[in-house]
Amino acid sequence: IEAPKPLIVKEELEPEVDDGKKKVTIFFGTQTGTAEGFAKALAEEAKARYEKATFKVVDLDDYAGDDEEYEEKLKKESIAFFFLATYGDGEPTDNAARFYKWFIEGKERGNWLVNLQYGVFGLGNRQYEHFNKVANEVDEIIAEQGGKRLVPVGLGDDDQCIEDDFTAWRELVWPELDQLLWDKDDATSVSTPYTAAILEYHVVFHDPADASLQDKNWSDANGHAVHDIQHPCRANVAVQRELHTPASDRSCTHLEFDILGTGLVYETGDHVGVFSENCIETVEEAERLLGLSSDTFFSIHDQKEDGTPISGSSLAPPFPSPCTLRTALTRYADLLSSPKKSALLALAAHASDQNEADRLRFLASPTGKDEYAQWVVASQRSLLEIMAEFPSAKPPLGVFFAAVAPRLQPRYYSISSSPRMAPSRIHVTCALVYEKTPTERIHKGLCSTWMKNAVPLEESRDCSWAPIFVRQSNFKLPADTSLPIIMIGPGTGLAPFRGFLQERLALKEAGAELGPSILFFGCRNRRMDYIYEDELNSFLEAGAISELVVAFSREGPTKEYVQHKMMEKASDIWNIISQGGYFYVCGDAKGMARDVHRTLHTIAQEQGSLDSSKAESMVKKLQMDGRYLRDVW
Ligand code: 2AM
Repeated sequence: IEAPKPLIVKEELEPEVDDGKKKVTIFFGTQTGTAEGFAKALAEEAKARYEKATFKVVDLDDYAGDDEEYEEKLKKESIAFFFLATYGDGEPTDNAARFYKWFIEGKERGNWLVNLQYGVFGLGNRQYEHFNKVANEVDEIIAEQGGKRLVPVGLGDDDQCIEDDFTAWRELVWPELDQLLWDKDDATSVSTPYTAAILEYHVVFHDPADASLQDKNWSDANGHAVHDIQHPCRANVAVQRELHTPASDRSCTHLEFDILGTGLVYETGDHVGVFSENCIETVEEAERLLGLSSDTFFSIHDQKEDGTPISGSSLAPPFPSPCTLRTALTRYADLLSSPKKSALLALAAHASDQNEADRLRFLASPTGKDEYAQWVVASQRSLLEIMAEFPSAKPPLGVFFAAVAPRLQPRYYSISSSPRMAPSRIHVTCALVYEKTPTERIHKGLCSTWMKNAVPLEESRDCSWAPIFVRQSNFKLPADTSLPIIMIGPGTGLAPFRGFLQERLALKEAGAELGPSILFFGCRNRRMDYIYEDELNSFLEAGAISELVVAFSREGPTKEYVQHKMMEKASDIWNIISQGGYFYVCGDAKGMARDVHRTLHTIAQEQGSLDSSKAESMVKKLQMDGRYLRDVW
């Protein structure tokens, strides 16, 4: 039985005390925590620099109850910073979605933000189309509506070193804030340079003998009315099978989670978030490097014993504890990504060997920039590999979990079933990640390896399970089933379309009239990786699709990709689009989706006799109208 939740005191009920201090609000739109981390780091440093101001870090989702409230509250802001990530197909993060929609739709509000001085830092990846779209748009619209831009929009690029981009942008912020916030009479504030504090949770060790009684289990998460990333739901693996033939040297898993009776619901086209655990070898290596035993039993807190918060606000909420070190490392620590520069600094602070500490600090310093890019990032050195290179660096657990190892994130998959066909199951189609890194380490994808090895209920009562939750998407079939559709989904990009076809078949059986539809699928070789071949043919026979076009990239002398097949069907595609049809793409964003986008543009030019800029506006309009939808990664 869960303890009753404390009453949530709504922000607006708090009395606004006018203490004469200037107020700065720092908003964040975050998916994996990086934007939130930067927002908090800015606040932290600013607090140390400007004693006569207050800094508040705000999750955009918590800012206002409804749209009117956004307007009312934003109007009162005088200095604000926005940390906004763009992900997927130029979309805002989940926690910024409501704000973004409201803000973009209300472009014509006039000059209502004249009291606001602001700065925007974006988090994106230059490899993707729509690089930093969300940050750029918010930055421009605030300026259009009268806001005074303090610094140029920061364009953080995760393909390079986003921490450096943030650091460089922050250096532009200080002179502006100096102007606004420094008390001219208070000379001391000018002379205290800031040195980054290393974050640390408060850790309390307990008797390991109590561990068996208290170690918290994921299953505690069940019983919530709503399942989300904070409250995942334990789901058993009902079915697991390999989709590639033995002739293939790669692997792709079909997996079905049993959601009967869990309260989890989903729609065709949604995503499932899956929490996966580190494998035992990885965890044992981490225990060895930390110099601690696996049954170390501890609890972790962001407050001291007396209830005061520790080292400001930059910490993520601690994970459920008390727990053993084994549990904490297995479930909550990302041990295999390359460490951030701030993590290297935290390791340096706890390295007993001076040479090691110096080298770690160098890697994190501006002069060590190229070395970091090469030795850490390009070499894909994992946190554990780096800790092994610096054996004297043994951070205490409070530092390790706060500043060295980021929180292990769930993995997202496009659901490959439809609730009309599989109401009690969530199907996933997942390609195995298995590759050699430049340091010859074998990188095994955490979740894809787990799925490949999962034991289904079909085989054992003691089956595999994982904490999961559903994330809604706007990748949906048209409400009018008679509209024609085109689907492009090579490889595991087929996943949501398998759901679409299940849905269409169910609708057809229920008497709906289906419009024409073409599915373009691509794989290497018919005998190796033509996943769901029999099912696709059955969908074709049953009329759930009217045409199935497959590109085999490694059968003939030249590569054949889905976009080549699109060109062969250019006039059909053009007709469907001209008749108000929908165009869907799912799969790899950097290569395939970009090439397909260009091909669509070419088809519009050739078939519609449009010049390049007209073709571009046509494709843009398709996107704006929600008739060109992409689920890309
Ligand atoms: P390849 O591996 O032979 O290059 C599913 O992964 C299919 O997508 C494979 O046949 C793969 O071919 C193909 N593919 C790779 N890059 C692509 C791109 N840029 N556009 C379209 N298909 C691509």
